[in-house]
Amino acid sequence: SSAGLGLEIVNVINKLQDVFSAVGTSSSQIDLPQICVLGSQSSGKSSVLENIVGRDFLPRGSGIVTRRPLVLQLIHRPVPAGAAGSSGTQAKVNGTANNTINENEWGEFLHLPNEKFYDFDKIRQEIVRDTEAKTGKNAGISPQPINLRIFSPNVLTLTLVDLPGLTKVPVGDQPRDIEKQIRDMLLKYISKPSCIILAVTAANVDLANSDGLKLARDVDPEGTRTIGVLTKVDLMDQGTDVVDILAGRIIPLRLGYVPVVNRGQRDIEQSKAISAALEHERAFFENHPSYKGKAQYCGTPFLARKLNMILMHHIRATLPDIKARITQQLQKYNAELQTLGGPMGDGNSGNVVLSVITEFTSEFRTVIDGNTNDLSLNE
Ligand code: GDP
Ligand code: NA
Ligand code: MG
Repeated sequence: SSAGLGLEIVNVINKLQDVFSAVGTSSSQIDLPQICVLGSQSSGKSSVLENIVGRDFLPRGSGIVTRRPLVLQLIHRPVPAGAAGSSGTQAKVNGTANNTINENEWGEFLHLPNEKFYDFDKIRQEIVRDTEAKTGKNAGISPQPINLRIFSPNVLTLTLVDLPGLTKVPVGDQPRDIEKQIRDMLLKYISKPSCIILAVTAANVDLANSDGLKLARDVDPEGTRTIGVLTKVDLMDQGTDVVDILAGRIIPLRLGYVPVVNRGQRDIEQSKAISAALEHERAFFENHPSYKGKAQYCGTPFLARKLNMILMHHIRATLPDIKARITQQLQKYNAELQTLGGPMGDGNSGNVVLSVITEFTSEFRTVIDGNTNDLSLNE
């Protein structure tokens, strides 16, 4: 089916991304499509990502919690036929009410190869541990990304990047020019034409003051790759709503805005289950006088579908360019190979990387050569 084909292409791109980030910056000239969250500190960026994934695993909360970029690859993996768990039974092992262990859902970090994390609380702990290892405990930041893949039957295949929030006043060990440092870090991701920007703004803040939207407009003035996400719709003053924003009457965005309701700080402290939060979100929009007529265009499930569609469209548009650059890079490596004396050379780790790239590239070619004209935007 066309949906399967789309997933296949994104899977190949995810693999390529892993390879290139393992090789390091000098070889990562191929800008693969990804979706980045952008917005002020505590606007709800990590909460939005967590709701899209449907599992609790990101550090969230007030203050600067996200201090390094997190490159998050969601990989849709159907439950194998006949596997335990396919009937909906989940082995409930330890963990919180939220984080039931499910053998069909796990995470893998690039910096911890061959280790599968089935306990999503442990994923969060590892993110915190590795963040502190690289940035210290006292609010320091670093541009060095954490790479995490999540395999699950319950996600759409997407690559998402969680980023530190825009902030102005240094705290803790932060440098005096924290505002500029974070801006520069974000610009590195969002300037790429291949980056789709999720500009997150809290609905209880004046849209005109949205730092995320302002920065997005600097790099994407036409708004062709910026989606607005309005969080905290539940915290708006009674009698006010985001209808004018959704209708494009305040700051129009070509790709539009999606309003969402995430868990509040109290919900986090009380470990409110994500399923309960999504149900609450659905009921909120369906029963709210301002939104009930268009509830199907509100909330996290709609945002996830919209993202997947935009990503597929984007990949289709950039395929010829990606293909040309992979070919170019391959030629360069082949030339290098000749000088090294062939792929079975002296245990040089560069050769291993090269063979991996070659393998993925041919897989990638097979997929796109046969199917470029056959990509459907519809699920
Ligand atoms: P980030 O700093 O942008 O990543 O924001 P977080 O996701 O860490 O959230 C910051 C705080 O805002 C947390 O206490 C969240 O519980 C709260 N929050 C985020 N989104 C919403 C929402 O839609 N409604 C409510 N009531 N609180 C939210
Ligand atoms: Na925060
Ligand atoms: Mg965050």
